[in-house]
Amino acid sequence: MTIDNQKRSKISAGLKSLSSHLHEMNRSGISSVKLTDDAAEKLNSLKKSINSQFNIECPDPSTKDKAALIKNIKSKVSRSKEIKELGTLREKLVFSSGTPEAKIIFIGEAPGREEEEQGKPFVGPSGQLLTKIINAMGLNREDVYISNIVKYRPKVEGGNQGSSNRKPSNIEVQKSLPFILEEINVIKPLLVVTLGGTAMEGLLNINGTLSASRGKLYEKLGTKVIVTYHPSFLLRSKSPNRDKRRLWEDMMLAMNVLGMKITEKQKNYFK
Ligand code: URA
Repeated sequence: MTIDNQKRSKISAGLKSLSSHLHEMNRSGISSVKLTDDAAEKLNSLKKSINSQFNIECPDPSTKDKAALIKNIKSKVSRSKEIKELGTLREKLVFSSGTPEAKIIFIGEAPGREEEEQGKPFVGPSGQLLTKIINAMGLNREDVYISNIVKYRPKVEGGNQGSSNRKPSNIEVQKSLPFILEEINVIKPLLVVTLGGTAMEGLLNINGTLSASRGKLYEKLGTKVIVTYHPSFLLRSKSPNRDKRRLWEDMMLAMNVLGMKITEKQKNYFK
């Protein structure tokens, strides 16, 4: 079905007016628009339908485009008034690491002391364990994309930060959430893995315990999601063997989703 010129110019005028409205909002400091899952899906199918009507081919952005888009998200976070106005997060932005071409994204909660010092997510003790987990899957950190829901280290009360880290608050998660959603939308991985309760609740709006929620496939923005323990939980666990095996079972589920072969040796890890 083709559309006539009159409809074509109406759609074009509508899109121009939407675009100028969004630019205006952006100029006035609003860097993101919160959409419900339902609205995001409707918008996506509207985009597909318009593209097919106009015979526009919409290939996935190239690596270069994706890297530029990720850089743009980073810059938006650094300019976000909403985040600064909270006044509860520290100054240094810790964004993401890894490749925008990744088939898998790992999402944690917020940077801690080492991450803030190095400006990279997951480089402290939890990060070292995460690296081991990634390696056990047969991957390297450079093959994956690693990010956090909250991009600044949360301040502790009284301002005496020292080496203390704190779990981000609900409002900090909500203000930061649009950016990780944008990262997922740019990268379009085959799978997202949330690490720990904060990332699980923030991304999927699940309130159950992690133990009850793991082992299943969820979906966000059309992307499959699994939830697993935060590496720091394993470092503190009173039943480390049991919990390592559980996390490893989650990683085998991830490998299945990614279409990776699991060797006999890998099947028996932490048994
Ligand atoms: N914990 C997280 O959730 N993220 C990090 O980057 C480091 C520790």
